[in-house]
Amino acid sequence: MRGLDDLDVKGRRVLVRADLNVPLDGETITDDGRIRASLPTIRELAGRGAKVVVCAHLGRPKGEANPAYSLRPVAARLGELLGQEVAFATDVVGDSAQATVRGLQEGQVALLENLRYEPGEESKDDAARRAFAEKLAGLADLYVGDGFGAVHRKHASVYDVPALLPHAAGGLVVAEVDVLRRLTDDTERPYVVVLGGAKVSDKLGVIANLLTKVDRLLIGGGMAYTFLKAQGHEVGGSLLQEDQLDQVRGFLGEAAKRGVDLVLPVDVLAATHFAQDAPHDVVAATAIPADREGLDIGPETRELFAGKLADAKTVFWNGPMGVFEFDAFAGGTRAVAEALIGADAFTVVGGGDSAAAVRKLGLPEDGFSHISTGGGASLEYLEGKTLPGLAALED
Ligand code: 3PG
Repeated sequence: MRGLDDLDVKGRRVLVRADLNVPLDGETITDDGRIRASLPTIRELAGRGAKVVVCAHLGRPKGEANPAYSLRPVAARLGELLGQEVAFATDVVGDSAQATVRGLQEGQVALLENLRYEPGEESKDDAARRAFAEKLAGLADLYVGDGFGAVHRKHASVYDVPALLPHAAGGLVVAEVDVLRRLTDDTERPYVVVLGGAKVSDKLGVIANLLTKVDRLLIGGGMAYTFLKAQGHEVGGSLLQEDQLDQVRGFLGEAAKRGVDLVLPVDVLAATHFAQDAPHDVVAATAIPADREGLDIGPETRELFAGKLADAKTVFWNGPMGVFEFDAFAGGTRAVAEALIGADAFTVVGGGDSAAAVRKLGLPEDGFSHISTGGGASLEYLEGKTLPGLAALED
């Protein structure tokens, strides 16, 4: 994979595919982690005299312009963080984009409107995607792939544009891939993975692959209840994916066969309903009352998981242990994060909700070896899949 050093960017228009898909509350960005992670590449290119044209998606507007998904607030925040003005194009490849790019001087930066306003971006039809990619490529002389969080998407800006322009990987993509390589090749042991989040169905591929690699697999969050049910326990009104029970039984069998220590919660915070202030008690994970739902792992499980992490040399964590958005049910996620911080290990937080949780809970980001900007992307990498956005940068 070529890097930024391989491109002669001075005076050239460089299209940077970034992942600026940040959570918004109205027009307020509630976590700007992905914008901050994109800064070094943009700064370097601008510093070397490029005309930097950043493109990105926000949410899933499904091929139509929709002000609720505008990148305008992101342009403002990007400008603040860069300490220089960021010109904003109000369309993706139309008149505004063209005029904005024409107006750039060396060292200046522009952001195009949400790529997903254009149906060609995500189209499954290769020709439609390619037609949009050609318009996008027409705005630039060079392409830099730096949107790690989107490299698992076969989208025009990720997959097709690099085939049309001289290209290189940005610093963020290079750094993320280096970290993920350490989790797949010559991994220092014990290698412990902590998985959480709502749905086991989102993680089937990665669990199957990790069972061939890890020493311990700790399962918390909503997905743990399908495992508990598969072991024959009642889970009350907790999240449950009945259609995944056979698959999960298979995982339990495979873990036993391979000698992987698959660790499930032993107690949970069982609430009367899904709410911040819902009354709740600590109950055994094997005895969740029929009228309760588990919203976090319990105190004994926090200790159990911390113990399993204490001597780890490599840790990957993806997915919260409970409903961390509610203070009352954030304790399990906090405990796992603190155990990672305390471990003398290479510790990686895998994007998405877990990265958001670290910041929401006010934990020190430098307490971890790496916080990935890509949830889905890092899981698919660990699953062993070929990621379109990385493959496109290879050749
Ligand atoms: C993410 O938020 O994981 C990335 O930005 C990709 O977004 P997507 O899941 O909507 O493709």
